[in-house]
Formats: sequence, C-alpha cells, structure tokens
Amino acid sequence: MTGFVARPVPSYPTHCATEQYDAMYARSLQDPDGFWLEQAQLLDWVQAPDKGGEWSYDPVVIKWFADGSLNLCYNAVDRHVDAGRGDTTALIFEPDDPASPGRSLTYRELHAEVVQMANALKSLGVTKGERVTIYMPMVIEGVLAMLACARIGAIHSVVFGGFSPEALAGRIVDCGSRFVITADSGLRGSKPIPLKDNVDAALKIDGVDVSGVLVVKHTGADVAMSECRDNWYHELKSDADCPCEEMNAEDPLFILYTSGSTGKPKGVLHTTGGYGVWTATTFNYIFDYQPGEVFWCSADIGWVTGHSYIVYGPLMNGATQIVFEGVPNYPDHGRFWDVIAKHKVNIFYTAPTAIRALMREGDSFVEVHDRSSLRLLGTVGEPINPEAWRWYHEVVGEGRCPIIDTWWQTETGGCMITTLPAAHHMKPGSAGRPFFGVRPQLVGNEGEVLDGATSGNLCITHSWPGQARTVYGDHERFVQTYFSTYHGKYFTGDGCRRDEDGYYWITGRVDDVINVSGHRMGTAEVESALVLHPLVCEAAVVGYPHDIKGQGIYCYVTLNADAEVTDDLVAELRQHVRKEIGPIATPDHIHLTPALPKTRSGKIMRRILRKIAENDYGSLGDTSTLADPSVVESLIEGRQNR
Ligand code: WT7
Repeated sequence: MTGFVARPVPSYPTHCATEQYDAMYARSLQDPDGFWLEQAQLLDWVQAPDKGGEWSYDPVVIKWFADGSLNLCYNAVDRHVDAGRGDTTALIFEPDDPASPGRSLTYRELHAEVVQMANALKSLGVTKGERVTIYMPMVIEGVLAMLACARIGAIHSVVFGGFSPEALAGRIVDCGSRFVITADSGLRGSKPIPLKDNVDAALKIDGVDVSGVLVVKHTGADVAMSECRDNWYHELKSDADCPCEEMNAEDPLFILYTSGSTGKPKGVLHTTGGYGVWTATTFNYIFDYQPGEVFWCSADIGWVTGHSYIVYGPLMNGATQIVFEGVPNYPDHGRFWDVIAKHKVNIFYTAPTAIRALMREGDSFVEVHDRSSLRLLGTVGEPINPEAWRWYHEVVGEGRCPIIDTWWQTETGGCMITTLPAAHHMKPGSAGRPFFGVRPQLVGNEGEVLDGATSGNLCITHSWPGQARTVYGDHERFVQTYFSTYHGKYFTGDGCRRDEDGYYWITGRVDDVINVSGHRMGTAEVESALVLHPLVCEAAVVGYPHDIKGQGIYCYVTLNADAEVTDDLVAELRQHVRKEIGPIATPDHIHLTPALPKTRSGKIMRRILRKIAENDYGSLGDTSTLADPSVVESLIEGRQNR
C-alpha cells in the first residue's frame, strides 16, 4: 500500500535481565517521551510521531504520539507480508469439537481474508469513524471483523457472545452503532449459542437503530434473514483492492464496555497509536515471544484480554497463535492440555479461575498430554491463590516454566504490573513489578500517599500510552470514575499491598465491583436487573469468596408486599437475571429477606451484607446506627439456613 514503509520488527534481547530491566525502567520514568518514541518504532507509521505524551489528569486530557499517523491492521497483517513473512502461520483455529476440522491461515492468507471482510463492510455502507458492533463466537472471522474495522477506520465495539439480547441492545444504543457483525450461531462445549437469534431479539428493542447486519455462516444453523437488513458474509465478501485508511494516532480504535460500581456499563475508548504501541511492546517484552513459537491466550475476543493478546499484540509482533472456540472442560477436563500438545504451544496465557477448576479434577487429565513444548505460563484477571499457582507451575509446567501474573484492566489497554521472565524472581500470588513507564502509588482512604512496604488503594500517577482516553460519549463520567476519588491520579478501583522488595500484591476490588471467574461485574447492574422483576421491591448484591470463581454473586432480595412466594421464585429470579444480562451474571445465592439493613437515613449497609454473605458474623462492626438492628439477626438466621 502507498505511504507505508515496511521495516522488519526491531529485535530485542531474548531475555530482559534484571539490570537491564532496572535501567530501562529508570529511563522510562526519567524520559518517558524519549523512551516511548523509541519503542514506537516497533510499529510502522505513515507519519512517524515526534510528540510523546501530552496529558493532564486535571483537567483530564490524554494524548500520545498525536502528530503521528498509522493503521493497526497494516501493522498486524500487511507489513509482515511486505517484509517477507507472508508464509508464517498467523492464526490456528481450534474448534469446539476436537473432531471437527480446524484451519490455519498464514499472514498472506490472513491479509486476503481481512481484505474480503473489509470489502464486505464497505459494501454495507460502513465508513471511517462509524461504530460497528461485533457479536461473534471465537472463530477466525471474529478476528477478521476487528481487523477489517481497523483497516477502514471504523470503531469496533465487541460484545461478548455470552451477553443477552438486552445487554447487546444497550451497548448498540449507547455507541449509536448502525452495523452488527454476527454468526448464525456459536458452539461452546457442544452447546449452541443462538447469536443471530439474539441479534434479532436485540434489534427489536426500543431505541435500537441498525441498518445492516453481516452474518457469518459458521454452524449452518437455520436462521431468519431480514431482506433489506441482513446479509450473508459469503455473499458480500470480495477480493477488490482495499487499502488501509491512514489514521491519526489519536483516532479511536475501539470501544469496549466494562462494568463499574455504579450505573450501566461504560464504553471505554481506546485510540490507535498509544494502544498499538502499548500492546506491541507489552507482548514483546512480557511474553518474550520468539519467532517460530506458538502463543495461546485462552480468553475470548469479547474481553480486553482477547483484544490485546489475541488480536493486536501478537499479530503486530508477527506471532503464530491459536483461536480456540471451545471451553476447558469439553469433551473432558484435559482439553487445554490436549490443545497444547496438538499445536505444540510454547506460551500459554489463561485465568486463575480455569486453573482452579481444572486443578480440582486431578492431575491425570494433565499428565496424559505432552506439555514439553511449554516454555512460559501466564495468568490474568484476578489474584491467583498460591495453591493454584503451584499446581500450574509444578503439574502443568513441570516446574520448568516461569509464571507471569499480569495485572491490568480494560482501561489500561495492556499489562501494567507483572514480573518479566528471567528479569524477576516469582512470588506466587504477587503480580510483581511495574512495566516500563508505569508509576504505581498506594494511597490511604484520605488520599495520603503511603510509602514503603504497605497496603492501600492502587493509583497510577502518570499516563502511559495504552491508557483509555475517555468513556464514549460521557467524558465527565470518565473523569468522575477514575480521577476524582484521589484527585489528579488514575484510581484503579483495586486494593493492593507492596512488599519490601517493591512487589505488588493485588488484594481485589475496593469498590462495588466483583470479579466472577475473572469477569468484572457491577453489583449495581445485577441489582437493576433484579428490580425489573415485577415481584421484587429491593435488591442488594455483594460478592463472597467462591472456590472456583474467585467471587460468587450473592443477592439479598425483598419482595413487594403482595408478592406470593412460590417454590420456583428463586429459580425464576435467577433466570430473570440471566435473561437481562447473560449467563455470566447468574446469581449463586438469592436470599429472600423481609428487610435490608439500612441506616436511619436509608442507606443500605453493604459492609454488613458482605460479612453475612461471607459467613463471617464475628466482625459485623457497629450496627447501632441501623434503623432496625433486628434485621441483622434475621439475615444471619437466613444465611445459616442455606
Ligand atoms: C480487574 C480488571 C486485565 C484483563 C482481564 C480483566 C482484576 C486483573 C489481575 C491480576 C489480581 C487482577 C483487578 C482489575 N485483575 N488482573 N493479575 N491479579 N487481580 O480485565 O475486566 O477490566 O478487570 O481485574 O481487580 O481491576 P477487567
């Protein structure tokens, strides 16, 4: 394509030694602009940037590389072909059913298919800056859809395929998306996921205004096609020339919805240049990918992990990697290790919840599969308990493979705190040290800065290229959510301990967000779903420790005075939440109670509800401010009876 100059990816030392990390980290803090402009050379730019970070946390304005222009699809696909790496395998598709045929694409083939998808989008009428909703199973076309948007300058908003039509509709309306890319249906553990039916249901909901739907034929399920609106992908795709759109570094790349402590999910917005540099560099240094290796991140493209470490990070580095449609326990609990043996995976990245679930099934499922290809193991999404860490290290990795525990968030774009393989000692349960350019700070509840070995609220004091720029359509909410709790600092919402070696230990969310199987869930969202049920008067939702999921969803519910309590009511309420949000929000416990503990001014005392859900009655704290202290006894009784 015109304008782009193909260059080989600069090569970095195989392992980053401790002294090298120390020197690079120090430099990244002393001269962030110089450091990041140098790292930015990992990408190919149309117009190379001269400007580094231009940011302020009061008022909140964040820009990186703002005088540069580039295209991330070009960086992820075309440039590898241009540089003679077209025959390298880019993607290996591993289907839900191991007996079904898989397929793989070289970078050259990936280029041809991305162009076809981009042409299909263009013929639907998608143009630069348009928001496109992607609601797909974990198949190669999901990756193509994202890259095709990036190619033509459209902003993708991927919605996880496990979300309900209601949740999908909310996200479509919020970003004013007029186009949806989906598949006939998906498969997870042999269960069909009716994606197209869900899209049809979502598009009937008030306020949704979608003019074009692109449907990928995947399972062959019978689906309704609306004549003017719905189009089969295979009928629309074409091989016409489709150059990459030149994007300013600060042009939006994608919106991804995530839960917060209040209100509906927020559309976190990432832009092109900074996100590109962040995902390319973090993938390069943290996963230490070597040419020829096979990388596998078991996340879904519906989450940020999939965006950064299935799509952008690995592909911009020219890596070979796996797109896995299935689940860890189908056809049996050895599926992950089967896939690792089959494709000789060298680097594996997954969530602690999956490790805990598989650990419970015993070592035999692991041991029957050859894991000698594994070199590095990673985790993400929630704190890993030392027992699961050891099992991952000793049983899965045969004691050979370092483990990187990567702490980050949808808002951070990519990894922020992690050990680097070979540069740092590992401490089971600790994420480790900050990545280049990251300045963590622990802050007390009154905003005081805490030094040395201590615990506090985790803030980041300086911007980094991968930082989210805003909440789509609501910058004030961005400012309020992240920069107002501790004025002038980015507040992560996490609690954290720093030890005497400067290692960070994430202790979990300190706000009303819970982490269920590594997925973020706002308790307010589950509450809003519950009170939509006609019999529910009030609901209060808290997290409680869960052996496999990390945290489970515990719902206290009061019913309307005239509600008739039937045996099926609890099941009905659980079903109701699944319908409103999706199966990932299914309550683990529904506790019907005549009343909730409230202060005299009517505020629900969540602290007490959390303790009761945790079965911890010894430390309920001061209950004297309650309007009716006897509520607590009745709640404890209700808890003990289940
Ligand atoms: C929240 C972010 C990062 C991609 C997946 C989740 C928790 C994430 C770790 C970790 C302890 C972790 C935090 C964070 N978290 N990684 N390695 N150790 N906790 O992204 O949905 O935006 O959730 O996940 O609580 O705030 P997300």
